[in-house]
Amino acid sequence: MAASKAKPKAKDRVETGIPGLDGMIGGGFEKKSVVIIAGDAGSGKTTFAMQFLYNGAKKFKENGLFITFEEEKESLFKHMLKYGWDFAELEEKGLVKILEYPPHEVDRFISEGGVIEDMIKENHVQRVVVDSITSLVLLHENEYKRRQAFLTTIEALKKWGCMALLTSEAKTRQGEVRSRFGIEYLADGMLGIHVVRRGEERDYAFEIMKLRGIAHERKLCPLKITDKGIVLFPGQPVFTGGK
Ligand SMILES: Nc1ncnc2c1ncn2[C@@H]1O[C@H](COP(=O)(O)OP(=O)(O)O)[C@@H](O)[C@H]1O
Ligand SMILES: [Mg+2]
Repeated sequence: MAASKAKPKAKDRVETGIPGLDGMIGGGFEKKSVVIIAGDAGSGKTTFAMQFLYNGAKKFKENGLFITFEEEKESLFKHMLKYGWDFAELEEKGLVKILEYPPHEVDRFISEGGVIEDMIKENHVQRVVVDSITSLVLLHENEYKRRQAFLTTIEALKKWGCMALLTSEAKTRQGEVRSRFGIEYLADGMLGIHVVRRGEERDYAFEIMKLRGIAHERKLCPLKITDKGIVLFPGQPVFTGGK
């Protein structure tokens, strides 16, 4: 509802609808761009990605595809329902497709590229999530094959012509675009969620490390995981990076 207010919608932008984010990136991601969101385990990457798809389907009339190498659909749906996001309903209505690839079938993902492409066309999918690129890549036994898997995935995503968000499990350091597989630079953007433990509490900070072609916010900002999903607080101070 609030999304239609204020700023005019730029045609070439893919709005995330994540509170605080679109304003930091000039209205949304670029169409057809490939963006990585990196962060530690439990930092909110899957939530971020699902929120992006949920808002796409619910607020912006853009269908989504979620490709997972990690969580089973049932458990994923259950977790997302806690934020009030009914993915079973979206799936039933054909607004979001879910593709699960258990570890032993990961090669099928690569070989099925054509099938996925058809599915994207048939369902008018405009937003694709891969969760996570780490799980996909690490299943390959050597560095060469890992890089190859990464490369093939990025190439496929670019070819499919959707806005693609890839989650990546990595300890992120402020200001640093950590290159785990050496080819992350092929992505158009790199976002990071930093986690700092404060006694019993965890604080999260969000950082845009790079976003090609977009004049974006450079400062870290606080990120909170609430019962309605992720909320960013641009312009507000964050923790000062104690270890
Ligand atoms: N309603 C909620 N309020 C606050 N935090 C939540 C809520 N639901 C889940 N979380 C937290 O969100 C995190 C899980 O996020 P997730 O997206 O699965 O992370 P990742 O994919 O990076 O591992 C966990 O740290 C969990 O404690
Ligand atoms: Mg996850």
